[in-house]
Amino acid sequence: AQAAAASSDGFLQCLSASIPSQLVFTQSSPSFTPLLKSSIRNPKFFTPSTVRPLYIVTPTNASHVQAAVVCGRRNRVRVRVRSGGHDYEGLSYRSERPGEAFAVLDLSSLRAVRVDAQASTAWVDSGATLGELYYAVGKASNLLGFPAGLCPTVGVGGHFSGGGFGMLLRKYGLSIDNVVDAVLVDAKGRLLNRNTMGSDVFWAIRGGGGESFGVVLSWQVKLVPVPATVTVFNVPVSASQGAVDVVTRWQQVAPALPDDLFIRVLVQQQTASFQSLFLGTCDALLPVMSSRFPELRFNRTSCREMTWIQSVPYIYLGSGSTVEDLLNRTTSASVFSSGYKATSDYVRQAIPLDVWANIFSKLAQPNAGLMILDPYGAQIGAVPESATPFPHRAGVLYNIQYMNFWPMAGGDGAVQTKWVRDLHAFMAPYVSSNPREAYFNYRDLDLGENVVVGNVSSYQAGMVWGHKYFKDNYQRLAMAKSQIDPDDYFRNEQSIPPLSNSK
Ligand code: FDA
Repeated sequence: AQAAAASSDGFLQCLSASIPSQLVFTQSSPSFTPLLKSSIRNPKFFTPSTVRPLYIVTPTNASHVQAAVVCGRRNRVRVRVRSGGHDYEGLSYRSERPGEAFAVLDLSSLRAVRVDAQASTAWVDSGATLGELYYAVGKASNLLGFPAGLCPTVGVGGHFSGGGFGMLLRKYGLSIDNVVDAVLVDAKGRLLNRNTMGSDVFWAIRGGGGESFGVVLSWQVKLVPVPATVTVFNVPVSASQGAVDVVTRWQQVAPALPDDLFIRVLVQQQTASFQSLFLGTCDALLPVMSSRFPELRFNRTSCREMTWIQSVPYIYLGSGSTVEDLLNRTTSASVFSSGYKATSDYVRQAIPLDVWANIFSKLAQPNAGLMILDPYGAQIGAVPESATPFPHRAGVLYNIQYMNFWPMAGGDGAVQTKWVRDLHAFMAPYVSSNPREAYFNYRDLDLGENVVVGNVSSYQAGMVWGHKYFKDNYQRLAMAKSQIDPDDYFRNEQSIPPLSNSK
């Protein structure tokens, strides 16, 4: 019904008054498909049955974004905002709902990064990648860094909207903990900053999830101090070398380490790889490791000293990579030719050894996936739960991400998807409960989807997934939504529904 009510001609005509025609693509344009595909990171959402946009608009300045929102609203064409396209469920460029009339607002041309090293701040546009942000910070100073995710092609827009964490999370928290201002285009097409959007909306856009509150065009961030030398290590421990014991021990050790030491674990097949960033030299790291985590049998040969900016590509892209590789927006890593399924959990009480032994047996199954364990504690846990929408703070030992991949040419991923769902079900007794918490940026539609009632997403139905991502902050998010977008123009399958005070 919505599609029938939409006026596609009206939308295009309206746009033509404000946006150069070469920035607007219809399905019949030869560039449409390559452009749509350009930043899709989960190719399972690029199939003939995928519900695609009617248009793609590639704004090159703020007024184009304002016009797209105003024209879309007037003509009942919704917009889905895409920055880096890394959404796990593809919600920035596809819909679950056949017949939905929508345009993709692709922000990849709005990607300036302006660093003020003197003030230790930067303005970064949403269409920039994390790699472009890191690169600009590294160029400006080797003593400044920024806490955000590991993968350099992730878009700033979606990442900051959902929280954003990486190797600096124990020292400096989330990306959004370091955001000090932002520019937002709201559902009326107004251009707002921190003061003019108001404190509730400014609170909500920092972690309350992308799409819900409008289009964030840029963010001002505080940069953080990093030492001239950092130390990186990656120590694999196989099951036969005692991986089950070392992982069990890690659960107690990693969240309680000094804040300049971060040790995550990647568990795949029968090996646990302990991957670390230490904000200091190898000489300073060695005594900490031998006193706090002797079980890892860490020694000097595993230390790699470098600058912080060098550590970024080294950790994610491997030892042969360079700082310039951070600027590559289309990394050809094989993971991007594979479909994947992922979900997440939070652990608040260490999981017993025998359960870990059982988990390892599941990782040995045919077509098994992997687990990534990111330790919390220190700064990320020191921020009060209500300070930002992201509620997974004090008391969290670590975040688990479950992932499984399959080659798109080799099937529909049913077996691999089932493996993730089965492991997630198995883990229920050992992870957080009431609600069972999950990380918004590892979006999973299995956790629940919006139900639209009377052309507005239902607050009640949204609670099912909303409490998992946001706990008690869900209600305040819904009230902020009702201030800035009461008609629910900006929406997707997991956007915040409006809740007015009067209801
Ligand atoms: P995308 O453009 O797909 O947007 C995601 C959501 O935000 C969509 O709903 C979209 O509509 C909305 N949105 C996008 N831009 C917006 C804007 N400007 N204003 C309003 N809404 C907007 N996470 C993490 O915390 N740490 C990590 O290390 C990693 N690593 C990682 C690796 C890989 C390979 C992937 C695929 C993903 C991650 N992530 C991650 C998860 C990542 O943070 C998450 O997928 C982000 O939402 C991606 O942001 P993009 O802009 O790329 O996505």
